[in-house]
Amino acid sequence: MPMKQVLKIAANCNSLPERYIRKHHEEYGHVDTTDATSSPTTAADIPVIDFSLLISSSSELEKLKSAITTWGSFQAINHGIESSFLDKVREMNKLFFSLPTEEKNKWSREENDSEGYGNDTVLSDQQVLDWTDRLYLTVFPQHLKRLQFWPHNPTQFREVIEEYSFKVASVNEFVLKALARSLNLDENCFLDQYGTSGKIQARFCYYPPCQWPEKVLGLKPHADGSAVTVLLQDKEVEGLEFLKDGQWFGFPIIPDALTINIGDQIEVMSNGIFKSPVHRVSVNSKRERMTVGMFCIPQTEKDIGPVEGLITDETPRLYKNVTFSLDFFFEYVQKGRRLIEACKI
Ligand code: OGA
Ligand code: NI
Repeated sequence: MPMKQVLKIAANCNSLPERYIRKHHEEYGHVDTTDATSSPTTAADIPVIDFSLLISSSSELEKLKSAITTWGSFQAINHGIESSFLDKVREMNKLFFSLPTEEKNKWSREENDSEGYGNDTVLSDQQVLDWTDRLYLTVFPQHLKRLQFWPHNPTQFREVIEEYSFKVASVNEFVLKALARSLNLDENCFLDQYGTSGKIQARFCYYPPCQWPEKVLGLKPHADGSAVTVLLQDKEVEGLEFLKDGQWFGFPIIPDALTINIGDQIEVMSNGIFKSPVHRVSVNSKRERMTVGMFCIPQTEKDIGPVEGLITDETPRLYKNVTFSLDFFFEYVQKGRRLIEACKI
């Protein structure tokens, strides 16, 4: 049975179902000094990185390093993906979520599966539910795609998302090389660990407006379990927030930029120099918001661990060699814990 759509709850109810009421952040296991109901007033000053300069400019590489050590995130411009194409991806997302429920349910997620259309995997009765409807798909490489979950309505969905996944794979490769260069390491050292059979999982998110925006969260606080996450944000409606120094900061929108987040696996590979940021999504009282997250995940047959060149007497190894599994990751997220804690020595 597919779970109840958040969109329907948003449209039909006079009071907020208990399951969606968010908890205090301490209960998610994240350090936070702000009041649970307060919204961020400060915009994060997330650096904008020009990919066309990263090849030749050492100051742009320095800026990248500083962005990742400070925020774990940056906004990429001149990334090689046309803005008209990004609009097409957004349009596919929008058209899919505008379909009638019966139509979307043709691609429903089964209870014990991670792919398909639906919402949170519910692991316990206490779990607070996210105010979002989603479609999860493995989009890369080709042979791991499970087409039974790929909508063919809108008709161009498969074609556009396939093309986008190839473009994201190149962005991921470019980012991994640049990150290595920013630390004066061999440019392939992260990429070698990422492996040749890494995969990309897509999360298409639809956040309906909510009459009680301060009581719910679109996504609970979490850090991504990926190596690199490429997020295509809504062009107009903000919602993403980052935790830094115990405060939540709003993430500004730059319409044609890609939001790039470092995930837990780069934190491990970089021996903690790069930090995978805790973030969450708040919802808007009037406007819907849509995003497409692409999670680039190293090949799972082998362990990842801190790069040798980064382990010295002054900077000893902080993380074990680990293999990340998606199921394990979600179990941690839903309990409000961070998988990265389990990786520390
Ligand atoms: C995610 C995520 C942010 C957003 O899917 O992990 O952080 O704005 N998404 O949808
Ligand atoms: Ni995330």
